[in-house]
Amino acid sequence: EKGGYDHFMLKEIFEQPRSIADSMRGRVNSQEEILQLGGLRDYMDKLALAKRIIIVGCGTSWHAGLVAEYVFEELARIPVEVEYASEFRYRNPIIHADDFVIAISQSGETADTLAAIQLAKSKGATIFGVCNVVGSSIARETHAGAYTHAGPEIGVASTKAFTAQVTVLTQMAVAMAHKRGTITEELYRQLLLDLSAIPQKVEQVLKAADRIKEIAYIFTYARNFIYLGRGLNFPVALEGALKLKEISYIHAEGYPAAEMKHGPIALIDEDMPVVFIATKDSSYEKIVSNIQEVKARKGRVIAIVTEGDTLIPGMVDFVIEVPETHEVLIPLLSSIPLQLLSYYIAVMRGRNVDQPRNLAKSVTVE
Ligand code: F6R
Repeated sequence: EKGGYDHFMLKEIFEQPRSIADSMRGRVNSQEEILQLGGLRDYMDKLALAKRIIIVGCGTSWHAGLVAEYVFEELARIPVEVEYASEFRYRNPIIHADDFVIAISQSGETADTLAAIQLAKSKGATIFGVCNVVGSSIARETHAGAYTHAGPEIGVASTKAFTAQVTVLTQMAVAMAHKRGTITEELYRQLLLDLSAIPQKVEQVLKAADRIKEIAYIFTYARNFIYLGRGLNFPVALEGALKLKEISYIHAEGYPAAEMKHGPIALIDEDMPVVFIATKDSSYEKIVSNIQEVKARKGRVIAIVTEGDTLIPGMVDFVIEVPETHEVLIPLLSSIPLQLLSYYIAVMRGRNVDQPRNLAKSVTVE
């Protein structure tokens, strides 16, 4: 049932070319230039006219929401707030009838997310679900939704569900941007092509597994890790740190790279591994200087870079390449080496990767 893999988590990481393709199947057609999400059909006008989007979720799903915030704002020029469901529900939040609330949940059973949408619903907002489990409580409680279609996720640490969530949310943002006229036809066409090419690029990233395993071996006994990224790669840094914490029990923190000098830089010495997500995007030059700051303090740097980068490899200790794509799609590629890194470190430490201590696959109590 693990399909020849040692763990469900590894199987699910390697399934991502397929699961991402499934989350676009029947939705994205780059030849005919169509992007259509069935669940959104009756709500497209509402979404396009919404003054604000509120995204709620927990854990990894909240990270997918943070990625979506960048994509919706960048492409569709609509303000987005991303909230931990548990904070949102106890905060007497300001919700209007013209708010569009997106609830993200792999299991569709997370108690805090369910309660958050019930609250928003009672205030008249439109609730849209992005769930993986068909017929789950959250899927039933929402007005409409789009399933992620990642297939069952058995490993407790979310991997393929995360990339499927990001894929669906990105499709929503592109459709909305097209409808609102905030992107050109040319960019629209380009994004459809780039989305269609993602599964094959993920396949390419997965080829780095052996190299990532070697890096994992070197850092197996690290006691701390810092993950740094900017822009769309900031939530990727948070997600990378969460994966490592969950399954290896190594303390890890994700930070926006520019925040480093406001505190965490004090932690950096020759014993501190720092993972930079430093792809060629609009923050590239800035992150290069952040890498210099860490190297100047003897931090050991692992960098996720865009294929063909010749600058960063000369500055850092280890590099892992990901193919080029449109900036808003980078998290779909840059998150994958981080899944593998935490997986291999956890295995080398002898952890139970599919069922880490103290964690459950769905959190049905608050
Ligand atoms: C992380 C993880 C958790 C879940 C969180 C939300 O790997 O598994 O952080 O992401 O409990 O779960 P769902 O998405 O089912 O609402």
